[in-house]
Amino acid sequence: MRNQSQLIAVMRCAYIRYMRVPMPRHYVMCPPRYFAVDYAINPWMDPDVPVDPERALRQWTELRDTYRRLGHLVDEVEPQPGLPDMVFAANSGTVVDGRVLGSKFAKPQRAAEAEHFRRWFVENGFRDVTMPQETNEAEGDFTWTGLLMLAGAGFRTEPGAHAEAQEVLGVPVVSLRLVDPRYYHLDTALFVLSEATDERPAHIAYYPEAFSPGSQAVLRRLFPDAVVADAEDARCFGLNAISDGRHVVLPVEATALAEKVAAQGYEPVFVDISELRKAGGGPKCCTLEIRK
Ligand code: ARG
Repeated sequence: MRNQSQLIAVMRCAYIRYMRVPMPRHYVMCPPRYFAVDYAINPWMDPDVPVDPERALRQWTELRDTYRRLGHLVDEVEPQPGLPDMVFAANSGTVVDGRVLGSKFAKPQRAAEAEHFRRWFVENGFRDVTMPQETNEAEGDFTWTGLLMLAGAGFRTEPGAHAEAQEVLGVPVVSLRLVDPRYYHLDTALFVLSEATDERPAHIAYYPEAFSPGSQAVLRRLFPDAVVADAEDARCFGLNAISDGRHVVLPVEATALAEKVAAQGYEPVFVDISELRKAGGGPKCCTLEIRK
């Protein structure tokens, strides 16, 4: 009897691993050449804590090369002096089916980044580029599941931007309310492990306490099989991860979360992003995804 249940466990494990199929991705990143923490616009940032810009650039390069090693395409946007947070490319555009919704930053310190990315999209052949009326920090607060867009509000993106994204991108948008200032963007509290397909629903991981009670109930209803992260997983930016459907790129400190996703058949890939975290960012924040 014992042997039989062990055999079932081993077979289940082999089966879910076999199901985790990586899909090649296309990302846009921006090297942190002018990276600094000169201002504080989230609880992680402290201008009195020194940052090592060279180390930040090395860590970012390692992240970019990790994506390339996994078979993904990475384009680069030219960084601009005076925009120290421009490395967080995820905040500058949301792309679904080749359609681009630009961003409009909540914080004046970052406002000018949006136009540099808009220009990059136009110069790189994107013909359907809309700049928003409402404040939205792009993939910081918009997460595509393959079927619908999860959208965060509470600290940066305005609820009105959710409706705007639905109109502009033509996809269903589900609004979620963020309540913990440390997890000020949706991508610090939730990520997609594998996108929805015709056969399977999306599989996500998230930290429930970052959301209002109503939003927690919505997430439970939509994603009953989600990997549920705890405070420790969230604190090391473990949820600011990138998955291609099999490989999950996440911060080195996120060992407990890595075990949870490995138990679901994914392969954790660790990166050190300690310098970028001083600005309140992680792997996902540095990564804008192009979905053609
Ligand atoms: N310092 C940046 C800010 O507060 C960090 C942005 C992180 N980006 C993200 N997608 N979560 O705006």
